Amino acid sequence: MKKKVFNFNSDLKKGINFYNEFGFCIFKNIVSKKEINNINKEIKSIVQNQAKKHLREKVKKKIKSTDESLIKLSKKNDQLRSRIYNVIQDLPSVKRLSLNKNFLKIAKMLGISIPLIKTSQVRMDMPKEKKFLIPPHQEIKNIRSSNMIFFNTALKKITNNMGTINISPKSFNLGPIIPKANNKSNYQYIDKKLYFKKYPLNYFELNKGETLLLNKLTIHGSRKNITKYKIRWSTIIRYEDAKKMPFLDLNDTYKQFDLKG
Ligand SMILES: [Fe+2]
Repeated sequence: MKKKVFNFNSDLKKGINFYNEFGFCIFKNIVSKKEINNINKEIKSIVQNQAKKHLREKVKKKIKSTDESLIKLSKKNDQLRSRIYNVIQDLPSVKRLSLNKNFLKIAKMLGISIPLIKTSQVRMDMPKEKKFLIPPHQEIKNIRSSNMIFFNTALKKITNNMGTINISPKSFNLGPIIPKANNKSNYQYIDKKLYFKKYPLNYFELNKGETLLLNKLTIHGSRKNITKYKIRWSTIIRYEDAKKMPFLDLNDTYKQFDLKG
C-alpha cells in the first residue's frame, strides 16, 4: 500500500473518510511545528544536562547529537536512560499536546462525544533495543471505552531503518480479539493466523510532525530500530469516550483483553 498523507487544514474530511475505510490515516499539520520543536527542546535540555554530569570529557567531545548523548548514557547505565524516559513524560509540552484542539476536533468527528485523555506520552525507541518492541496487537489493553482513538506523531523524521510502525489496514473489521501471551515477548499479541493473510502488515515512513491516527481495533506493532545512533522519537495521545464506557456502569468485561504488557 502506498503512503497517503492528508493535510489537516485542507483534506480533513477526506482523511476521515480514509480512516473510516482503513482504520488508520496519516495527517500532516495537526500538530504545529512550534509544538513539536518545544517538545524536542525540552527533551534536549534534560538529556544535555544529564550528559554533562555523567559522561566523560573525552566522550562528550565526540558526541554529535542528543540521540548520541542518550545512547551513551544508556550504555553507561541503562537506569540513566530509563529515568530520563520517566521524567520526560511530565514535561509541560507533552502534557499540553493532549489538549491540542485539532486532536479534539478529530475525536469529536469520530463520535467521541465526551473525550477523556487516556495517555499523553513520549515514546523513544532506541537502536537495537528489543525489549520494548511490541508485536502486532490491538490497542485494547486497559481501555475502558469501546470508542478509543490514538495519535502517534513523529517528533523527528522516522525512516524505515528506524523501525516504523506496522499497520494492518482494515483489520479493525475483525472486531476485538482476545490476545495471546508467551514468555518470548514482554507484551501480549494477536495470533498471526487470525489476520495475516487477509490483512497483511504495511509500514510507512513518517516525516517530522506527521501524525498517524489509529482505531483501537486496527492491528499494529513496532518494527526494530536498526540504526546505530538514531532514536525513534514520537508522541502517543489516546482519547477514550466517557459516553461509551461500560466501565462506568460497573461492567468490567474490558479486562478480558488484558493479559500482559
Ligand atoms: Fe499499540
